[in-house]
Amino acid sequence: MEKVSNIVPYYIKQLKDIAQEREIISWAYISIDFLLGYNRSECIINSDKEITIDVSDRINQIIGDLKANIPIQYIIGEAEFFGLKFKVNEHTLIPRLETEELVQWILEHEFTSLLDIGTGSGCISIAVKKNKNVEILAIDVSGPALLMAKENARINEVDINFLVQDILTTDSLMRVDVIISNPPYVLEKEKDLMLNNVLDNEPHSALFVSNENPLLFYKKIAELAYLSLSKNGLLFFEINENFGVEIVELLKCIGFVDIELKKDINEKDRMLKAIKN
Ligand SMILES: C[S@@+](CC[C@H](N)C(=O)[O-])C[C@H]1O[C@@H](n2cnc3c(N)ncnc32)[C@H](O)[C@@H]1O
Repeated sequence: MEKVSNIVPYYIKQLKDIAQEREIISWAYISIDFLLGYNRSECIINSDKEITIDVSDRINQIIGDLKANIPIQYIIGEAEFFGLKFKVNEHTLIPRLETEELVQWILEHEFTSLLDIGTGSGCISIAVKKNKNVEILAIDVSGPALLMAKENARINEVDINFLVQDILTTDSLMRVDVIISNPPYVLEKEKDLMLNNVLDNEPHSALFVSNENPLLFYKKIAELAYLSLSKNGLLFFEINENFGVEIVELLKCIGFVDIELKKDINEKDRMLKAIKN
């Protein structure tokens, strides 16, 4: 592997037994961008450039980690979300594609203030702030996750207020126009259906709720939101695809109106919006 043009074929040769070619090629280009700063077209322009021993060593380390089932985002410590770069580590979830769809939906509305509950890497708040000049408070129970979120706000040059706060022991929230939450929503019993690279690497406190109380976060957040949202304020949730109907019922009981359940790109019930009238 002496030249830039050899990197992608080298990844394919080394990793063909553990993933499909499309995914391997994507890992290779993410690595090249991270190590050399070249996007796909710059790879073509620089295809004859020699790579240093250092870069070649790093490539072999990355390939070793991929073989050990570590997601590329954790290996390089970076993920892309809504066209922006985010730092991630063992305390933060890797931002998901379906969450981008939720951000897109939020941005279609007019508002001046937003509260993000369970912000993790800060991806939702930062993507909203980058595209709309609104006041944002983002909270999370995890101090280490919030450190990463603050760093991501700095890198993406946006001003957001962050606070360590446990929503489950919170009595009231500040008045805002929009509340958004992507809380933990995978049931413990759904662990068996998950890929090992998620189970072994992503923070379980960000993912799982007990089988006995799957709507724990939704109930608590919706009750607090109903009391604190401004008139016609909006509540957005990302949800477990199996609980759409139950969460709609819950929100109706609390008093929300015009509840809209929306599917993600994979045709799964994944997000909803409710209005406080
Ligand atoms: C599914 S992750 C979402 C992270 C990020 N918002 C995203 O969309 O990628 C859930 C987040 O909720 C946080 N969390 C878990 N329990 C919490 C609690 N009791 N209070 C506040 N945040 C909590 C976790 O630390 C985690 O960052």
